Amino acid sequence: MDLGIRGKVALVTASSGGMGKNIASTLAAEGANIVLFARSQDKLQSVADEIEQHYGVRALAVPGDMKEAVDIDRLVSNIEKEFDSLDIAVLNSGRPPAPLRSTVNETDEARWLESFNTQLWSTIQVAQRVHPVMEKAGWGRIIAITSASVAQPMPHHALSTVFRAGVTAYMKHLANEVGTSGVTVNCVAPALIETPHRTGAVAYTPEQAEARKKMTVLGRMGYQEELCAVVAFLASVQAGFVTGSTVRVDGGMVGSLF
Ligand SMILES: NC(=O)c1ccc[n+]([C@@H]2O[C@H](COP(=O)([O-])OP(=O)(O)OC[C@H]3O[C@@H](n4cnc5c(N)ncnc54)[C@H](OP(=O)(O)O)[C@@H]3O)[C@@H](O)[C@H]2O)c1
Repeated sequence: MDLGIRGKVALVTASSGGMGKNIASTLAAEGANIVLFARSQDKLQSVADEIEQHYGVRALAVPGDMKEAVDIDRLVSNIEKEFDSLDIAVLNSGRPPAPLRSTVNETDEARWLESFNTQLWSTIQVAQRVHPVMEKAGWGRIIAITSASVAQPMPHHALSTVFRAGVTAYMKHLANEVGTSGVTVNCVAPALIETPHRTGAVAYTPEQAEARKKMTVLGRMGYQEELCAVVAFLASVQAGFVTGSTVRVDGGMVGSLF
């Protein structure tokens, strides 16, 4: 299926590695020009070079911190300078602080503030600067990466769940307000997607890794490609009547009907 995004401009935040990089590559494979945004300048530039070489699209690396308004302003002005438009924005963000703790032990104000800033405020800040560009053009796709824990909280994930739920609520409000201008706003809520590079404080023991597989009805972890394909569909022309929704990519972990 041709997703109809060839030549469109897609921003992917938090894209110097991991899921953000994979989403950017997937959209580039569909012919979209890519804007990458994360803090590590060298890593970001090498992702941009790799995307240009592999997919023959333009890839612009804008180093910056999603928590900093001045960096996001610079991001948007760079996009406006380099491209005519911004059509797609995938709002991925950094992880909550490690190590994970049980909720009753999550008492450190600094960790709560960091989580608020990294996951919720940073996402809102980017969203509020990109939707006017899309509204002006009369077409746009905003897709926030949240977590399936917003539907079924996972143990030790309070620092994530609380703010991903906030992102979900914000995106629903935004979807309601910008819909008539042709901009759709949705969330993709992953859980248990394989992240091979997890090391140090965020690494799982072999026993924990086995237990995590059993949390799905498929008995396995998800592949990055399976998550990226859902994001790409929501970015497509065909997804034009899907807005204000959350699509879970969780191997059936969440037990509810909706
Ligand atoms: N894997 C799953 O099943 C799953 C489930 C639910 C939610 N998630 C969430 O999905 C997101 C992506 O996961 P991942 O495994 O790809 O994480 P990751 O490998 O740790 O990558 C995080 C990315 O975020 C960037 N980043 C962090 N803080 C930033 C900031 N302040 N400004 C700009 N960029 C920032 C990092 O780049 P720099 O360091 O260069 O800035 C990096 O590119 C995470 O938020 C994770 O919690 C994953």
